[in-house]
Amino acid sequence: MKKNPIVGAIFLMAAFLLLVPSAQAQKTKKKAYEHTVVEIPAGQRTVIPVETEHTQLVLVAQANRVLQTLHYGNRIADPQAFGSLRTFRDSGNGSGPMAFPTAGGKYLGEPALHVKYTDGYHNTELYYTGHDVHRSGDVVTTEIRLKDYVTQLEVKLVYDAYQKEDVICTHTEILNAGNLPVELVQYASGSLYVEADRYLLTHFHGGWAFEMGMDSDILTHGTKVIESRRGTQVTQCNNPSFLLSLNTDRLQENEGEVIAGALAWSGNFRMSFELDESDRLNVLAGISPHASAYTLASGATFVTPDMIYTYSRRGAGQASRNLHAWARHYGVYGGGNINPTLLNSWEGAYFNFTTETLLRMIDDAAGMGLEMFVLDDGWFAKDFPRNSDNAGLGDWEVNTDKLPEGIDYVASYAHEKGLRFGIWIEPEMVNPQSNLARNHPEWVVQSPGREMYQSRNQWVLDLSNPAVQDFVFGVFDNTMQLSGNIDYIKWDCNRTVANFGSEYLDADQDRFYVEYTQGIYNVMRRIREKYPDTIVQCCSSGGGRVDYGALKYFNEIWTSDNTDALSRVYIQYATNLIYPACVMASHVSAVPNHQTGNVTPLKFRFDIACSGRLGMELQPRNLTDREKALADRCIQSYKQYRDLVFNGDVYRLASPYDGDFYALMYVSQDRKRAVVFTYCIKYQNRAVGGHVFRMDGLDPGKQYKVTELNVDRSRWWGSGKVHAGDFLMEGGFNPLLLQTFDSAVFYLEAQ
Ligand code: GLA
Repeated sequence: MKKNPIVGAIFLMAAFLLLVPSAQAQKTKKKAYEHTVVEIPAGQRTVIPVETEHTQLVLVAQANRVLQTLHYGNRIADPQAFGSLRTFRDSGNGSGPMAFPTAGGKYLGEPALHVKYTDGYHNTELYYTGHDVHRSGDVVTTEIRLKDYVTQLEVKLVYDAYQKEDVICTHTEILNAGNLPVELVQYASGSLYVEADRYLLTHFHGGWAFEMGMDSDILTHGTKVIESRRGTQVTQCNNPSFLLSLNTDRLQENEGEVIAGALAWSGNFRMSFELDESDRLNVLAGISPHASAYTLASGATFVTPDMIYTYSRRGAGQASRNLHAWARHYGVYGGGNINPTLLNSWEGAYFNFTTETLLRMIDDAAGMGLEMFVLDDGWFAKDFPRNSDNAGLGDWEVNTDKLPEGIDYVASYAHEKGLRFGIWIEPEMVNPQSNLARNHPEWVVQSPGREMYQSRNQWVLDLSNPAVQDFVFGVFDNTMQLSGNIDYIKWDCNRTVANFGSEYLDADQDRFYVEYTQGIYNVMRRIREKYPDTIVQCCSSGGGRVDYGALKYFNEIWTSDNTDALSRVYIQYATNLIYPACVMASHVSAVPNHQTGNVTPLKFRFDIACSGRLGMELQPRNLTDREKALADRCIQSYKQYRDLVFNGDVYRLASPYDGDFYALMYVSQDRKRAVVFTYCIKYQNRAVGGHVFRMDGLDPGKQYKVTELNVDRSRWWGSGKVHAGDFLMEGGFNPLLLQTFDSAVFYLEAQ
């Protein structure tokens, strides 16, 4: 039979009408989001300047409501001019320099924010909905509200602009205003688009006993990532900080454009530098997304840590000074205070001491004019005594076999001698050889069925668990109760995480790394409420937790377990590019150095240690009388100028990476006083022994009396005389540093 085409068509249409609605209904059922909002009115461009005294970040909400970064640099009088700027650099996808790029829309680069929604889709497009500005003292805060037009995700970009310091801190608050949970796949703190012809990235890497090594590379197209996935001890590989020099091949101290940045987070972090096809660079800094997809419940907000940055037109020197000034006022706990000089027991006694050993060390410390004694590892645990690093962590009771009179006896003795007293703890860790490991195996970081790898014979406690947070707080609290005379705690953390996992988090293992770090911060907040005046040092096998997140709670860092003065030249130089000298604990130790075997003169060791927070870490009984007299002299002179080290402005006069000398100076804010440190780190041609250092940082119009410290007779012809500031700045200062490890320290006073 011949088919009737009309009947066939009617039949097909009927089938279509019957089938399609049900398919559509099914689809709608699965769909979690509708394309609803268009409450965001398109319109004029809105220019949002985030300003400090000398710098300006200009964000512009374009007519299509996309927020872009159009300027970060020197401040201009009328930032509205950027409202009409047309940028000719555009990535092929046409997304432009977004202020907070998201995975979605036309943006195809590395996103600051990548969200996966419950319906399985990955697109987020944020549009500007408004902003507020408010001022509190020296800080102007700009809060910019952005919203995704489908999923109701709301993002607030918060910029704190520190006026005098020229520093901007930015963080992001992500609110899930929808009805369903969402998964934050990537959630950086901030993004910074920069335009230049050439980008030189300087960043810091290292490991145990060689922290803060320095790499400077010209960025090529693609993405350079600096990351740590270590969970704990995160900065024993990379540091969450950088210097970005624009349009130059060299890191310059006094010239050129430099952006310095850091992330205030003590856990896994990620910084990426993506140079795109339009030669524009996007800098992202935030928590590492590694194994950390974060589920945000309906109504919940996630607040990222701060990304901190500053802009300098006067090289790395000004960038450091900006960061340091900010750190001293806002970024470091107790910043601005002068922390005491000290003798630490570790390298002088290790685990082998009695009460008598400690009392004699206290006598010697007092005799040399030091101000505190710190009892390091080895004082605790009874059933599994801490006489080596293979037992005892977790059992924080005094080992009365070793110290029968207890801690209070030693601490009170120190106080009687006029010294303060400090003590070491490592509360996040446990040795398998301990009662704690036996009583609370569920508190140990582990993954079911997998090897529990030991490192330094220890495991990590699971700080994502609030019960463990209580325990760790208790370790600090109980230690403080051992004596009313404890002034200082050295908080250590000696290993990284392996086979991460938390019994407490159960199916939510993705939260482990973030909640571990938040767990430490919870504990530190409680500690600071109860013990606001206790000085707390952040140690992690040396500089394993050096970041501005930790420094909100800690007064200082143990810069490195490497106490060799030559190694310290490089470690301290780089640390001080980002972190102020007031946090850099720096100790004079014995020779041959226990880490490197190097032998350096005692004077050189002191002159290096005195450029940070001075301490000693050796057995004073092993010093000769002459050495003790030199120690005494260096400690006395340090007290005369250390306010400059702690609170002055740093000027680096010679980089150890550039030649055979290292030199730096700290200057008072009024430029009336200064201390200058000069070192020879490698023998060179005798004919250039009198090396010229330009004393940048002085007032050229002032007259300064220059006196070399810690010597009977200066080898510099100009010591003890008055010189014009401009003479010292322009070539008149040429101390004689002939041999390797010659060093000279000068004190300057305006007349
Ligand atoms: C770590 C620290 C050292 C010292 C030892 C004690 O290595 O960095 O300073 O405290 O632990 O075990």
